[in-house]
Amino acid sequence: MKDLSPKAGDLEVIETASTDEIQALQLKRMQWSLNHAYENVPMYKQRFDAAGVHPDDLKSLADLAKFPFTHKDDLRKNYPFGMFAVPRENIMRLHASSGTTGKPTVVGYTANDIDVFADMVARSLRASGVRRGDMVHNAYGYGLFTGGLGAHYGIERLGATVVPVSGGMTTRQVTLIEDFKPSAITVTPSYMLNILEEFHKRGLDPRDCSLNVGIFGAEPWTNAMRLEVEAAFDMHAVDIYGLSEIMGPGVANECVETKDGLHIWEDHFYPEIINPDTGEVVADGEMGELVFTTLTKEGMPMIRYRTRDLTRLMQGTARSMRRMEKITGRSDDMIILRGVNLFPTQIEEQVLATGGIAPHYYIERYRAGHMDALRIHVEAMPSAADNLSKTAAARMLAKRIKGSVGVNVEVNVGDPDSVERSQGKAVRVIDNRPKA
Ligand code: DLL
Repeated sequence: MKDLSPKAGDLEVIETASTDEIQALQLKRMQWSLNHAYENVPMYKQRFDAAGVHPDDLKSLADLAKFPFTHKDDLRKNYPFGMFAVPRENIMRLHASSGTTGKPTVVGYTANDIDVFADMVARSLRASGVRRGDMVHNAYGYGLFTGGLGAHYGIERLGATVVPVSGGMTTRQVTLIEDFKPSAITVTPSYMLNILEEFHKRGLDPRDCSLNVGIFGAEPWTNAMRLEVEAAFDMHAVDIYGLSEIMGPGVANECVETKDGLHIWEDHFYPEIINPDTGEVVADGEMGELVFTTLTKEGMPMIRYRTRDLTRLMQGTARSMRRMEKITGRSDDMIILRGVNLFPTQIEEQVLATGGIAPHYYIERYRAGHMDALRIHVEAMPSAADNLSKTAAARMLAKRIKGSVGVNVEVNVGDPDSVERSQGKAVRVIDNRPKA
């Protein structure tokens, strides 16, 4: 793999600032953000008043804990533009997430917000080893989803060449990679596996392609998946995190030289980890739910937004800003089976460690008698698609899951190509239990 470490002068001053300097900036910006939300968004005024707090009460960063949380449901209740803190005419762009139920959640950006968004994605790409003059194949979906346009503006801001492919049409993706020879790709990790498959179908060795780094996010993925993709393409795989409510991609990003968790761009987004049951802030290092407060966002400031993503905060390494561990999963995706909590990422680790099966999978929840049960759907590699190999792989995977997660599951090893392929964010859990 190519050495993509930053050289002297590559980084912004703030990326190597001291913790004191970062915290002083955060406090100043947080005071502005709380005031901006309180003065301009009726919901925040009502909430703060009801909780008996005022933006002036924030004298230190720790005082943030006195302020109420914001939930996804608040965006739905204020659909479409009720959370905006500026007149609609000053909103330059809208994005929205489809959501599985009911109304979508809408987010709005001022010109300045779009500018910061581009800067943060550019910083994330630089952390990933992309430089001015490189070419980036952008396979995140364009449209209301923040992934495509978010990455696009950041690629341009960095001074790289953007190939705005969007998601889907996998054969064309491979043709463009072969013909244009980009050095980087931005895409969901699950869709990268389809691209990998297409290389193999064409008899091409992906290790010979031009890609030096993939910047993967928008869904949870494991270090096991990182090793799989890195080996297959002989390139680096780094993690990019973000969410529409806070901005989009580029809230946090791994550094290619360390790959030890994602540095949060704390000069714009203030993270807290809370105990999801009690709402108490927990110390750095402890697992819990990630909560963000935007520090500079004008169009739609978010105060203590509960992401439902589970992780922990760690000290900075390659940069001085703190890191978050790779996301274990969303609290919504947690499955409780006979008292054991489990996440799709734990299943992914075991799928990737089991010989004879492909890295595509999904988890089916079903009812067996009066009990909830799980069936893991995977598929055989073409070289191991006979019944004997399939049975052996199924037994091995079930055993691994029992050994690591502690639950008995059924495993279905289908024929090659039997698991539906992701076109963007993969659907990992299907619930076939009878509705209550
Ligand atoms: O997925 C923004 C994004 C686009 C991030 C492209 C990275 C790359 P939403 O559609 O609002 O925004 O979904 C946000 O996706 O709360 C997490 O649950 C999940 N997610 C995003 N990035 C990661 C990641 C975009 N790197 C939700 N690891 C978040 C794990 C992620 N989960």
